[in-house]
Amino acid sequence: MQKFDVAIVGAGAAGLFCAGLAGQGGLSVLLVDHSPKLAEKIRISGGGRANFTNRDLDPRAPHRHFVSDNPHFCRSALNRYTPTHFMALLDRHGVSYHEKHKGQMFCDRSAQDLIELLVAECDAGGVTRWQPCPVQSIGCTSGGFELETAQGAVRAARVVIATGGLSIPAIGASDFGLRLAQQFGLRVVAPSPGLVPLLMNGPQWAPYAGLAGLSVPVRVSAGEGAARIGFDEDLLFTHRGLSGPAALQISSYWREGETLQVDLIAGTALASDLLRAKQSSRRRLVNELAPVLPSRLAEAWVAGHAQWDRPINEASDRALQALEQSLRAWRIQPSGTEGYKKAEVMVGGVDTRDLSSQTMESRQPGLYFIGEVVDVTGWLGGYNFQWAWASANACAQALVAAQGGPPSA
Ligand code: FDA
Repeated sequence: MQKFDVAIVGAGAAGLFCAGLAGQGGLSVLLVDHSPKLAEKIRISGGGRANFTNRDLDPRAPHRHFVSDNPHFCRSALNRYTPTHFMALLDRHGVSYHEKHKGQMFCDRSAQDLIELLVAECDAGGVTRWQPCPVQSIGCTSGGFELETAQGAVRAARVVIATGGLSIPAIGASDFGLRLAQQFGLRVVAPSPGLVPLLMNGPQWAPYAGLAGLSVPVRVSAGEGAARIGFDEDLLFTHRGLSGPAALQISSYWREGETLQVDLIAGTALASDLLRAKQSSRRRLVNELAPVLPSRLAEAWVAGHAQWDRPINEASDRALQALEQSLRAWRIQPSGTEGYKKAEVMVGGVDTRDLSSQTMESRQPGLYFIGEVVDVTGWLGGYNFQWAWASANACAQALVAAQGGPPSA
């Protein structure tokens, strides 16, 4: 039976990066993936150019950009491996990149450059890669673990689970990592789709159902009190509901049955502008909204409201104030999400209370979890890949430091 220092299950962003680092640190590494194609999520990410990190990630408070039951868990790894580190790696490989918007860093050419970089790092570390190769089971043996795979049984002193989240099952996502965590008695935070379009229906949605394709800058918020969170992004109306960065960001915080609040006129002083316009204009109120609202949305908004569907000089001051109020605090209740078929990530995962934030080792000695399978989910904009790199780095450092020694939690 073949023996390795480390077996890593899942050759996506986190698994490939961890394998390369551990191999270059002197460990014999086996990297196994059941999918016929390598790193499909990297290939399709960022519209094919991989938004591989975000330079706005604040090294003093990196956790601000992540969702987790235990928000501070990710700090240590993200502090030790920053966007600057990853960009330096791209520089060393001659992969060019650029910033698009809000700190989001993309490959200039293609996400394939990033995949090739990760494979080159694995090659430099002498990593053995088996793919496609399903892993049937993992069990403990004396001094480590035994893995049953489609290429036979192997032994490894340590095992790293990097099987990612549940989104896009068509390209290899599976719940293997979550099931394995439970097999070893580790807790799992209930998973749900994140960074996912929201579904809207019912009579309240009827006036907006025809706005598909329209994009509006908004502030969207969820939660109450100290837990309130908001994003200033574009909201896209679709045939089935809402998408665009505003809907995707807030979807990671939304739970079934909750309402969201949308400010459609963020940053404007609409009521005072309208009160001023009322003195001299006889145009329809809907036309006076043109500077702050696309006309299709303005029409949908005033339709059916007699106090707004009239010339502005005939509208009462109270009606104008009520109009501002309604546009500033539009409360919507999604009926659901597009689910894992369309989600970019999974929220939830292996409970961080059962993992070390320094090493990613679980309460089961010698068993590690990295990347998206862990209950750490980034915002849209490169934060999820940064978590993959940072958690892989923390794990690889620990594996190399533990080389030759017995597993210890
Ligand atoms: P990842 O999913 O990359 O890899 C997991 C690997 O495990 C896969 O290769 C899979 O085949 C394998 N696997 C699963 N089950 C297995 C099993 N039972 N046995 C063996 N192997 C198994 N993030 C970002 O920061 N910037 C971006 O631009 C984007 N864009 C984007 C677009 C789309 C369409 C999606 C779906 C997602 C993104 N993301 C993103 C999210 C990002 O892709 C994701 O967070 C990372 O790829 C997670 O890296 P992991 O290595 O943890 O999982």
